Amino acid sequence: MARKNQTLGEFIIENQSEFQYSSGELSRLINSIRLAAKMVNHEVNKAGLVDITGSAGEINTQGEDQQKLDVLANDTFIRTLTNREIVCGIASEENDDFITIEGHKENHSNKYVVLMDPLDGSSNIDVNVSVGTIFSIYRRVTPVGTPVQLEDFLQPGNLQVAAGYIVYGTSTMLVYTTGHGVNGFTLNPALGTYYLSHPNMKFSEDGNIYSVNEGNYNHFPQGVKDYIKYCQQDEDDRPYTSRYIGSLVSDIHRNMIKGGIYMYPQSAKSPNGKLRLLYECNPMAFIAEQAGGTASDGHTRIMI
Ligand code: AHG
Ligand code: MN
Ligand code: MN
Repeated sequence: MARKNQTLGEFIIENQSEFQYSSGELSRLINSIRLAAKMVNHEVNKAGLVDITGSAGEINTQGEDQQKLDVLANDTFIRTLTNREIVCGIASEENDDFITIEGHKENHSNKYVVLMDPLDGSSNIDVNVSVGTIFSIYRRVTPVGTPVQLEDFLQPGNLQVAAGYIVYGTSTMLVYTTGHGVNGFTLNPALGTYYLSHPNMKFSEDGNIYSVNEGNYNHFPQGVKDYIKYCQQDEDDRPYTSRYIGSLVSDIHRNMIKGGIYMYPQSAKSPNGKLRLLYECNPMAFIAEQAGGTASDGHTRIMI
């Protein structure tokens, strides 16, 4: 039973039995993520003080300019998950290929792979706006003890065993689900401990926020244009309020708490939309559904 203000460590131990294949491995994995998140949080908070903002001078696999903090967050998560040898593979938005973790232990039996967007909203870092981390966890489909394969990562979203995000905002929060609702933990930076501040998170039913980059309006499909006009009409509880941060994690987090819809339709630059299925859409869809919301690609449910 989740108790407000219990620590994340206590919560993980108490809820371990909820995991389908409980062996403590998934708990250890979440534990590593919370540790890496603390380290990234520390770095993010130093932005502006030391030379960690701006471009790293590389273009990542998505064709985007890598920021120094993208690289730093990516390295931190990979290092933490690799050192503790609790996953068998990692795929990151910032890496061209997936990483195989062989482990030092002979016949290591790690069952999980992690997919992540180590720093989401990184174009906002220079202007002191909240950024985040998104993660998605699957049970491998290839035999345990062998090197991971692409098919371990390319699984449908509805096979995720856990997903979550960290928002490095006015306070730092870790929000995650293992398919039994969504819980949010806030970091007390003085103690380095996360406390359950938002138990059993549910989208507010009477939300009135829509979030979309309206600069791309001319390229939206007609249905989306019509919907935006609907949001703006003077009728009933409308017009709705427009809020767009440009950090998916922060936009979704705000909508979870206040209620609302987030959209990233096609644009001139991204004719198929910009958000990445494995690193952004699947984990956010899992969280949204577990919080009583829905997630669609405009035609069908994302979690298939
Ligand atoms: P990332 O920083 O990981 O590349 O992701 C950025 C994404 C997402 O966070 C955000 O919702 C979206 O890009 C914003 O895109 P626009 O600036 O095109 O609106
Ligand atoms: Mn992102
Ligand atoms: Mn990113």
